[in-house]
Amino acid sequence: MRFGSRFIKLVAFVLAAAISRVAADDLNIYTDDSLASGWENWSWSSTIDFAATDLISGSSGSSISVTSDAWAALSLYYQPAPFNTYAGLKFDIAGDQPDISVQIQSVADDTSGPSIPLSAISTSVTSSGFTTVLIDFKNLPGTGAALPDGNWDRIAIQAGANGATYHVDNLVLVESIVITPEFLSAEPLASNIIAVTTKGAVDLSSVSVALNGTSLSVSSSESYVPVDSPSKSITYLTLAKNLAPGNLVITAGETSFNHTLPSVLYGSIVQSVKKPINPHIYGVNFPTSASYIQHLGVTISRWGGNAVTAYNPFGGFTNAGNDWYFENRDSDSADDWIGWVQAAGSDTLLTVPALDWVSKDNTSYSYPKTVYSDQQKYDPYNADAGNGAYPNGSWVYPPPDPTHAYTSWNTTLAKQWLSSLVHKPKIITVDNEIEIASSTHQDMHPDPIDYDEELDRVIKFATVAKEALPDVLVAAPSTCSWWFYWTSMIGWDDTTAHNNTDFIPWFLSQMKKVEDTTGKRLLDYLDIHYYFQPDTSANDDAAEALRLRMTRSLWDTSYVDESWVGTDPQNHQWNPDTVELIPRMKTLIDINYPGTKLSISEWSSTQDDDITGGLVTADALGIFGQYGVDSATYWATPGEQAPVGLAYWLYRGYGTYFGSNTAQVNLANPDPSTWGIYAGSDGDKLTLVIINKKPNQALTFDLSNVPTGSYFVRHFGGAAGVAKWQTTLSVTSSQFIVVPGYTAIFLKQQ
Ligand SMILES: *[C@@H]1O[C@H](CO)[C@@H](O)[C@H](O)[C@H]1NC(C)=O
Ligand SMILES: *[C@@H]1O[C@H](CO)[C@@H](O)[C@H](O)[C@H]1NC(C)=O
Ligand SMILES: *[C@@H]1O[C@H](CO)[C@@H](O)[C@H](O)[C@H]1NC(C)=O
Ligand SMILES: *[C@@H]1O[C@H](CO)[C@@H](O)[C@H](O)[C@H]1NC(C)=O
Ligand SMILES: *[C@@H]1O[C@H](CO)[C@@H](O)[C@H](O)[C@H]1NC(C)=O
Ligand SMILES: *[C@@H]1O[C@H](CO)[C@@H](O)[C@H](O)[C@H]1NC(C)=O
Ligand SMILES: *[C@@H]1O[C@H](CO)[C@@H](O)[C@H](O)[C@H]1NC(C)=O
Repeated sequence: MRFGSRFIKLVAFVLAAAISRVAADDLNIYTDDSLASGWENWSWSSTIDFAATDLISGSSGSSISVTSDAWAALSLYYQPAPFNTYAGLKFDIAGDQPDISVQIQSVADDTSGPSIPLSAISTSVTSSGFTTVLIDFKNLPGTGAALPDGNWDRIAIQAGANGATYHVDNLVLVESIVITPEFLSAEPLASNIIAVTTKGAVDLSSVSVALNGTSLSVSSSESYVPVDSPSKSITYLTLAKNLAPGNLVITAGETSFNHTLPSVLYGSIVQSVKKPINPHIYGVNFPTSASYIQHLGVTISRWGGNAVTAYNPFGGFTNAGNDWYFENRDSDSADDWIGWVQAAGSDTLLTVPALDWVSKDNTSYSYPKTVYSDQQKYDPYNADAGNGAYPNGSWVYPPPDPTHAYTSWNTTLAKQWLSSLVHKPKIITVDNEIEIASSTHQDMHPDPIDYDEELDRVIKFATVAKEALPDVLVAAPSTCSWWFYWTSMIGWDDTTAHNNTDFIPWFLSQMKKVEDTTGKRLLDYLDIHYYFQPDTSANDDAAEALRLRMTRSLWDTSYVDESWVGTDPQNHQWNPDTVELIPRMKTLIDINYPGTKLSISEWSSTQDDDITGGLVTADALGIFGQYGVDSATYWATPGEQAPVGLAYWLYRGYGTYFGSNTAQVNLANPDPSTWGIYAGSDGDKLTLVIINKKPNQALTFDLSNVPTGSYFVRHFGGAAGVAKWQTTLSVTSSQFIVVPGYTAIFLKQQ
């Protein structure tokens, strides 16, 4: 690397790190002008110069310059042997915080490690100088998880949807990483525990605890190194005395961690007031493996989304429509999928295509450039496949002949397929969000779907599904969002034409009519998709607080939605500006088709890789149980070690379950914007989940009717980043239970 003098001044502080010499046993990938021996350029759709003029300085030949199109990558393959034995990947990067993710891959095994966004590694990458970054394979940025075992032989730095421009230099696989001993956090937990998170060889005997200046003695301590986040340890110090309101100072070596333990919030738990929790609320879309299902305790798995509408079970093809350039591709077999998912212990929810077409092969696409020459965007991997829109965003004209990519589909074929299934799904849904098919599947259904067409398709396909699979339960209409709960793609003229009745109540009453006429129930679940509407994309303190508050839209009849729904609710319902999703849908069911269950087959925390997304998920799972949702599957697949996955683990991980009944929680001053507390029972054993939505401030409770004694405890979040731990501990007093900031804790009586 050669720098001009101006550059040296600008980046003197990063430079020291950048030039730290490559140790003898490190594996060089790139230093100056070319890839090291054994490394091959396996990049795609990118302009790459391996001897680029240096940034800023204008001198020549010292770094790799990369300009990648959408989803394209700088990708480097090591031919001689896998590089599994290395401790981490280090490189220097310059650019305007480019939207890129780093992934370690295995060509040999055809697998990939998790995709690590640059933002999880560093948020201060600029184009004014190089920043040195390090990915520790035992402590992956973002999750702290370890890179799984694998024959790793390839590195990809992939751009996001808008492409990326940046320089990289000094790429090296490091042989070892020296861990500087550090106390990461020390937090009060339950009635008398201090949870200390550390890395490296810290001196735990240096930890002391004082409350209001009076020292508290530690009676015992236990340390753990979790297998899946081995770079950190957790030590639970049990205090000789219970904690109490006051100023808690935990001194650990040079560091002190201070907590204000506020006065307690009073509440009581009444185990005898209970309702069953439907286990199907702990579901996800497309779990990744049998071990994923077992580790997170997934109870139901959905085969769904935009990419299953065109699923052709006879050929094994599909097409994601507008999500990916209307291109056909190979699909896994739904039958095999049901088989392995059910064998792993999860029930299944299968989407049955219900439009008139499915993919005819694994290669065709609807909008070739050779046919429609003037399109807005083309697939970065296939320059001939367009997105079907003119540069101004309107659909190309005329619409394509559906037989270019599709073969016809109907109820006869659906029945033939369902009858032939070796593995039977528990629930089927009639397609996915077909009310918006004229956008998502414009190539096969350009005309907007109205009330009558949607109902007709549900009736026809539900009928054959029940003929083919007599025990199957049917969920419909899998409507995408608030707007379409109340009207159709045609809009309010369609609502007016249907006795001025909003869509979902109309749909339910029509399905009831079918039963009244035929004596047979076709609809077992009202199925909706729910996406929180408030805009939390800024992800700053205010947006995070809003994200944690907005779970109130699931149940709270006094919570005016903090989004367009709260100001322009677009429906003819009672309290139109409050969402009160679960009670509202249950009331609509009671009025229009009693006995129908409620399913939410897509929902999302809005931020899968942020601790607040995990806390939202823990809160929502508590709410689903408390308010009686019958089935729910998260969209999309939560990362097993990432915050949303940890929320499932909290309630269900590794065979320890929250329980099958709710228990009543009475709070003197409930504040659901800043905490969530959910009680349940497994047999007669009490379970509790408490979520503290405040970032830095502990919450304390005095809960009556909580038996003291031994408890199994899990928690995630806290000041050390997204960390998860579990142990058993003794609750010696329910008059003082403390939960640190941004933490979700699970307690289960032993
Ligand atoms: C590396 O691959 C990219 C993408 O295919 C290509 O544009 C570039 O010219 C290649 N560079 C070298 C030096 O082979
Ligand atoms: C700590 O000091 C505060 C403020 O004086 C007091 O309210 C609290 O009760 C004290 N706590 C303990 C455990 O002494
Ligand atoms: C914590 O409190 C102690 C004692 O009051 C004080 O000396 C120390 O500076 C505080 N540390 C922090 C990080 O606030
Ligand atoms: C498409 O299907 C054919 C025939 O089943 C198969 O040989 C081929 O590998 C598939 N191609 C792709 C790109 O998946
Ligand atoms: C968009 O562009 C197409 C093709 O140029 C044109 O026919 C159409 O009228 C345009 N639509 C709008 C809304 O401007
Ligand atoms: C469905 O399509 C098949 C094959 O094209 C055809 O044999 C059958 O009659 C069709 N069924 C209906 C209900 O249209
Ligand atoms: C139209 O709605 C009214 C009141 O909302 C209801 O009483 C009536 O039965 C409905 N008519 C039809 C044909 O559904």
